[in-house]
Amino acid sequence: MTQLFSVPDRVKQGSTSPIQTPDQYREHYLRAAADPDQYWLEQAKARVKWKKEPTLGLAGDYHGVAEEPISWFSDGTLNLTETCLDEHLKERAEKTAIIWEADEPGHSKTLTYRELHSEVCRFANALRELGLQKGERAIIYMGMVPEAAIAMLACARLGAIHSVVFGGFSAEALRDRVRDCGAKIVITQNEGRRGGKPLALKTVVDQALTDEHVVKHVVVFKRTDTEVEFEEGRDVWWHDAVSGVSDSCEAVECAAEDPLFILYTSGSTGKPKGLVHTTAGYLTYTSYTHEIVFDLREEDVYACVADVGWVTGHSYIVYGPLANGATTLMFESTPLYPDAGRYWNLVEQHKVTIFYTAPTAIRALAAQGDQFVKGHDRSSLRVLGTVGEPINPDAWRWYYDVVGEGRCNIVDTWWQTETGGICLTPIAPVTETAPGSATLPLPGIFPVLLDGDAHVIRGPGQGKLCMAHPWPGQARTVWEDHDRYVATYFSTYPGYYFTGDGGCIDEQGYVYIMGRIDDVIIVSGHNLSTGSIEEAVASHPAVAECAVFGVKDELRTQVPIGLLVLKCGVETDPVTIVSEVVALVREKVGPVANFKQVAITKRLPKTRSGKILRSALRKLADGVDFPVPSTIDDPAILEEIRIDLQGLGYA
Ligand code: WT7
Repeated sequence: MTQLFSVPDRVKQGSTSPIQTPDQYREHYLRAAADPDQYWLEQAKARVKWKKEPTLGLAGDYHGVAEEPISWFSDGTLNLTETCLDEHLKERAEKTAIIWEADEPGHSKTLTYRELHSEVCRFANALRELGLQKGERAIIYMGMVPEAAIAMLACARLGAIHSVVFGGFSAEALRDRVRDCGAKIVITQNEGRRGGKPLALKTVVDQALTDEHVVKHVVVFKRTDTEVEFEEGRDVWWHDAVSGVSDSCEAVECAAEDPLFILYTSGSTGKPKGLVHTTAGYLTYTSYTHEIVFDLREEDVYACVADVGWVTGHSYIVYGPLANGATTLMFESTPLYPDAGRYWNLVEQHKVTIFYTAPTAIRALAAQGDQFVKGHDRSSLRVLGTVGEPINPDAWRWYYDVVGEGRCNIVDTWWQTETGGICLTPIAPVTETAPGSATLPLPGIFPVLLDGDAHVIRGPGQGKLCMAHPWPGQARTVWEDHDRYVATYFSTYPGYYFTGDGGCIDEQGYVYIMGRIDDVIIVSGHNLSTGSIEEAVASHPAVAECAVFGVKDELRTQVPIGLLVLKCGVETDPVTIVSEVVALVREKVGPVANFKQVAITKRLPKTRSGKILRSALRKLADGVDFPVPSTIDDPAILEEIRIDLQGLGYA
């Protein structure tokens, strides 16, 4: 039985959440199970400012999704920005909506709800002047500046559909997305700043748009003094577009199921998938989860240090927090700039109460040592969140003990671009936590594990994680490719939404995510999760980060290979470390893992969102040709690793 961590008293005290005790959680869970329509209609009515209130809950189901996409609240109408902005002018007009922390340490600014409302209206009017209409698409290719959020909301004000493309994507990736969604407008910056370095955003846009005629205008926000080329007739400065423009703008009436945004995720084939999120269900679900999971309170300062280019930024920097009238922080820099104390400096300076980041950042910071944390006052913190990949128990403990000093509850939130919002998670004031577990489903979420024959595994066990019933925040389709949506998520297990993840559920119902299904390897007929081997490897004190993946083996089908990145300052001889790591895996996972091949490497190839590119590692080791993944952060790493793998006799 795993060790459980009870909820620290100070996390429970003063909660204003509708779910602050285990009994309330059970009561909500049962109510949502008995009558999901009623449960979510109640939430939708309470959280959303409707133009016309809905009477309908869910229409459609997972069996019929090929013929008819599911829908929620479909007879209601609204404009999402009225919930996120106008409603707050009544009681929170002077409350800080956005705190912006610039790349340069010590540079920050704030926007109140009144100011944000005016900026959004002005920019919406400007976009309308440039010809953007309801249902048309705008691509936002920006860094972490408040104008990115303003641009998203301005599109929503007009009922236009935005698609944010992460500012680190290449011109080619940007062009693919512009084409796929048929964007009429691209919104960008002359230049971005990150980690003390410039990002040539406008130049990349120019490269992406060579010979591209669907885009009518490029709006350029001036972040720095760097000059950029302008194409006559196409390009306009943001400040010119809004100059003299009215700050009142009619909020266009939208149907509940009108698309709010398209967000591209990498699929198993090369072409990115444009997942479509619609308006009212998404708004209801992000507002609900943001309040319940983090136990949001009126005076909270909430900081999610993701990027708006990912779904985490959409749901938990912009839409959820603003729907709830929260103070949300936007962070332009990186956790390591100018040093590994930047996050904690942020916490100290802005008195952050809720902090939300990713395991990859936690591991990187833990490897730098505790002194960067301890130099900053973190007494304001109450809730610490993580998202994006399984968090290994060591990193969890570091976050809990060192960052939170045992006073904060950790919410390990499992969700996906497809799910729109958090699905499996501890609820801050309610749930006892277990390092490495996303614990329990939120009310209205019905996870099941299926075995190889598509049978539901009852009780504790391991299988493929699926969802048995729709919830309002779920993506409805893939942009202009509903067949691909159905094939990807609903054909493997008819009647279920297939998440693509493997999971395991223990005796008390806690869920442990084992990673993507393709992280499962078969060694001499045994199914092994590379995640469990990684966990063992990561528990070695000299290891900062590691990746374990399977390579083809004539004898055993596959064998696992481990790549290790060592912590700074480790002086032990590498040969000793390798043999200790091999022994650890033998001890924790067993000889069955056949774990013998280990290389020490400088760094691991990751996506720009921080996920280790295991499939690229696998292909490298197997010596198969493959296109460099478009999401890769630094392609040069692949060559370094090829050499390390050759040292082991692969690649
Ligand atoms: C995949 C979704 C959700 C926002 C960021 C990622 C993995 C996500 C966890 C977690 C274990 C996690 C899953 C999932 N994942 N959160 N708490 N524990 N794994 O969005 O890029 O769509 O990736 O990230 O494998 O399927 P995404």
